[in-house]
Amino acid sequence: MTWLKGNSKEIKMSDKKPSGLEDVVVAQSSICFIDGKRGQLVYRGYDIDDLAENASFEEVAYLLWNGRLPSQSELDGLKADLGAAMHFPKHLLELLKELPFDASPMRVLSLATAALGILDPDADDMSPAANRKKAIHLMAQLPIITCAWHHIRNGTLMPSPKPEKSLAYNFLWLLNALEPDDYAVDTFDAALILHADHELNASTFSARVTAATLSDLHSAVTSAIGTLKGPLHGGANEAVMQMLQEIGEVENVPHYMETLRAEKKKVMGFGHRVYKAKDPRAVILERMSEELGKRAGDTKWFEMTRAVEAIFQPTVAEKGIFPNVDFYSASAYQVMGIPRDLFTPIFACSRVVGWTAHLLEQYANNRLFRPSSDYVGEKGLKYAPISQR
Ligand code: SDX
Repeated sequence: MTWLKGNSKEIKMSDKKPSGLEDVVVAQSSICFIDGKRGQLVYRGYDIDDLAENASFEEVAYLLWNGRLPSQSELDGLKADLGAAMHFPKHLLELLKELPFDASPMRVLSLATAALGILDPDADDMSPAANRKKAIHLMAQLPIITCAWHHIRNGTLMPSPKPEKSLAYNFLWLLNALEPDDYAVDTFDAALILHADHELNASTFSARVTAATLSDLHSAVTSAIGTLKGPLHGGANEAVMQMLQEIGEVENVPHYMETLRAEKKKVMGFGHRVYKAKDPRAVILERMSEELGKRAGDTKWFEMTRAVEAIFQPTVAEKGIFPNVDFYSASAYQVMGIPRDLFTPIFACSRVVGWTAHLLEQYANNRLFRPSSDYVGEKGLKYAPISQR
């Protein structure tokens, strides 16, 4: 057993090579708690089911940033700040119009966030007040950027945001330029709550590592966006939808799954480093996807997802690989008419709240992250002139 000293706490490492910091505690946090065995997710003491059912995304943002739910006047103040930030810096619009129209929306979001760091006069102000203000701005701006890019690449016009409406309403309004129905807005708002935070997941950890060097908030969020993009993390929702589109029809599920098994390929949307029970977000998203499908008269994608889960049950039982947050969000977004390559940007539009809550916490009690590695390379070699190599 190897013992490593870090931050005066001893970190026990198994004798196997390090496996992605599994079970290693690298920070104390009061933002999010996950009970992987019982499939429980808690934001600042509130169970995710309670929040998804009763709160708004704006209330949850206030909760994650401040550690308590807002009063009416505090919530009104946050909504006013968000509404005032629902604009699009002119320079940024010109910059995006220069990009190739087939650029990945996640790359565009990453570029745009870095550009916002250039355009924001408070970008290098690291005071808590300035960082809170920047967090609110990013929460309002990422959805605008995502929808604006969709219109730029399609050559269509994006309508103006409605600052008096919620972020969930504005996302659907700006994307489709159509008045969204109340059920879609409520469902999308709940989806934003479900994706808002998740303890030290890879992208949040990436953000904290960047902030721990005392780099600025925009730089840390840009790090997080690049991390979330990966198919093992936030990119999985798009990969689930690609799988469903490749399957095509419910009756093709058994053959498709058999092929994946034979080729030893992973089934996207399943498995989690922490959950050893069904992801509580997947439980809620499953219900949402089914109801959305019924209301739209298009239950095919939900049925297909359900069929994949049924066939995968033996592996779930044998290996404890359960559906995660991405498994049912794909069919839900598909039925809401959201293009597949915007699924992960939506994840970022929500998770920017969790990232910035963790950044505020990191800046308030900071120490540089600097783990070590178990060196297994050569030693004692001598330089030889190139003529002798
Ligand atoms: C998110 O961390 C977070 O909190 C993330 C997140 C958040 O809100 O921020 O919850 C969001 O990222 C959810 C996960 C989305 N990713 C996917 O759906 C991609 C598919 N899943 C896997 O790649 C995998 O399950 C991970 C990456 C999510 C977790 O991987 P681990 O913990 O490193 O586990 P592993 O890859 O070592 O797998 C352990 C075993 C292996 O079998 P053996 O080699 O031991 O025989 O389980 C198998 C794996 O092959 N396995 C799977 C599988 N996931 C794991 N087998 C088939 N299909 C899968 N999806």
